[in-house]
Amino acid sequence: MNAFQPVALEHASRLVNHGPTILVTSASGARRNIMAAAWSMPVEFTPPRIAVVIDKRTFTRELVAESGTFGICIPGVAAIDLTYAVGSTSGRDVDKFARYGIESIEGPVLGLPLVETGCAAWLECRLIPEPHTEDAYDTCFGEVVAAAADSRIFANGHWNVDASNAALHTIHHLGAGHFARASDIVSAKPL
Ligand SMILES: Cc1cc2nc3c(=O)[nH]c(=O)nc-3n(C[C@H](O)[C@H](O)[C@H](O)COP(=O)(O)O)c2cc1C
Repeated sequence: MNAFQPVALEHASRLVNHGPTILVTSASGARRNIMAAAWSMPVEFTPPRIAVVIDKRTFTRELVAESGTFGICIPGVAAIDLTYAVGSTSGRDVDKFARYGIESIEGPVLGLPLVETGCAAWLECRLIPEPHTEDAYDTCFGEVVAAAADSRIFANGHWNVDASNAALHTIHHLGAGHFARASDIVSAKPL
């Protein structure tokens, strides 16, 4: 079952607000790629903008610079092995989608490869060129132009995390292939 539904752009920042490890996808001409990134964050609500640290030595960075676009997929627990694998190998000499049997769809606005299987959500981003921060801090800014989420875990602008959708709980890198998962919600009460 594919339960992915579009996410309103004004809610896009909520998809990454809690700091999940993400998959960064990219494509330029016939070349495509996917890597893991633990360092990303929203930087603006409207228009939705996101910053991701993409090391300049990665193949991803090369494709992002060429195409001016990148995709963000938010893996769930179901995609933990895949996340670690694509974060531990470079796509410069091998197509990681083929190597790891990763199915992708074509993004609706930018045509980026996006992963839905095992993922909770995805976003398509247009690179906002910032040569200084890209060069000095490997930080790439993007404007979100399309987003969607699996409605079993994110619907009507909110995460609904419970035991029924455990495979889609987001993963948070602790280091060396160990992750914590976001598996319940605790709500603040007024003091
Ligand atoms: C869990 C995890 C998180 C990572 N986070 C980042 C990150 O935030 N930024 C980054 O540049 N690389 C990060 N990496 C490393 C890249 O994913 C790795 O260098 C990858 O092989 C690059 O692939 P590419 O050369 O095909 O683009 C991470 C790796 C793992 C496993």
